[in-house]
Amino acid sequence: MGNSLGKLFTITSFGESHGNCVGVIVDGCPAGLFLDAEDIQREVDKRRPTSPVSTTRIEEEKVEILSGIFNGYTTGAPICLLIWNRDIDSSEYEKIRYLLRPGHADYTAFMKYGGFNDFRGGGRFSGRITATFVMAGAVAKKLLDIISVEVLAHTIEIGGITAEPKGLVEIRQHVEQNPLKCADPEAAQEMLRVIEQARGEGDSVGGIIEGNALNMPVGLGEPVFDTLEGELAKALFAIPAVKGVEFGSGFSAARKKGSENNDPFTIEEGKIITKSNNAGGILGGISNGMPIVVRVAVKPTPSIARTQETVNIQTMQDAALEVQGRHDACIVPRAVPVVESMMAVILCDFAIRAGLIPEVIK
Ligand SMILES: Cc1cc2nc3c(=O)[nH]c(=O)nc-3n(C[C@H](O)[C@H](O)[C@H](O)COP(=O)(O)O)c2cc1C
Repeated sequence: MGNSLGKLFTITSFGESHGNCVGVIVDGCPAGLFLDAEDIQREVDKRRPTSPVSTTRIEEEKVEILSGIFNGYTTGAPICLLIWNRDIDSSEYEKIRYLLRPGHADYTAFMKYGGFNDFRGGGRFSGRITATFVMAGAVAKKLLDIISVEVLAHTIEIGGITAEPKGLVEIRQHVEQNPLKCADPEAAQEMLRVIEQARGEGDSVGGIIEGNALNMPVGLGEPVFDTLEGELAKALFAIPAVKGVEFGSGFSAARKKGSENNDPFTIEEGKIITKSNNAGGILGGISNGMPIVVRVAVKPTPSIARTQETVNIQTMQDAALEVQGRHDACIVPRAVPVVESMMAVILCDFAIRAGLIPEVIK
């Protein structure tokens, strides 16, 4: 049914934007992992709306652990993580119930589920569902800690403004400091201006997030169908509004010569590494030990304030739509921790498949 991801470390997402709750069941987590709600809350808080770039839906988003933990440690049983929906205002959605929002999933969801889908706040297609991804990602990150794999994402472009490339130290330092989760403070200022301008015009902007996985072991990925990039791409495309995913040199590889795109091998401290990383850390669908580098294109928020042409699916007539409600003029910063989470879930699943994370953590 498409709500579960993973083979040995699996996550099943549930809930709707304006329903009772959103949640996730994490199955396949080894026993003996110290895990408390605070570990998960910390990650979920990174996804919270940050004024001035975000929605005015300010949720408490308090994480509850319903199962799978005993005396502070995972038991090996399914872990159910939940957030109750409290700050709900569905009135704007009632008004536009049959007016299909261009760029959103209203039309496809209506057709696929015969109009039974919970349309309020976008239902299952809401960005709010990504809170469930982040809760699962928090568990995955803790497991990846055991093998010293770190996942780090940051904003590299918004509304056509590009950040200067920065080192890991600066990325770690800046990502949590500015609301755009961008490691280049000057570019972040400009991005902020572009977002404000779009908002002022009743419009929205998109951007690009870069995800990195560091200290990668060699050998993660199961060709030919469960390749590392294939599974990562699948998980990243589950994030609403993601329209492109590329690894390493990505689409620019198509315009390079083999001599430019190949990453020369060398030995460093007795280890085989590559001098460049155009492969983005993956060769033949298998991690090569270099950092995984993936870039994720996020489209502009579909719900915009300016009047748009649409149709009324009940009367089957052309209509004009003005979306009121509470929407981000740019969702890129909020998607940054979601990218990290999706990467962590997939890497954790592969690490367990490769036998790198034991069934019981001691
Ligand atoms: C964190 C996050 C927040 C989002 N917030 C909004 C929003 O406020 N308004 C909106 O129209 N879309 C929002 N979206 C995007 C829509 O959910 C998405 O565009 C829609 O489901 C259609 O899916 P698609 O763009 O992948 O085709 C958000 C996405 C994410 C990841």
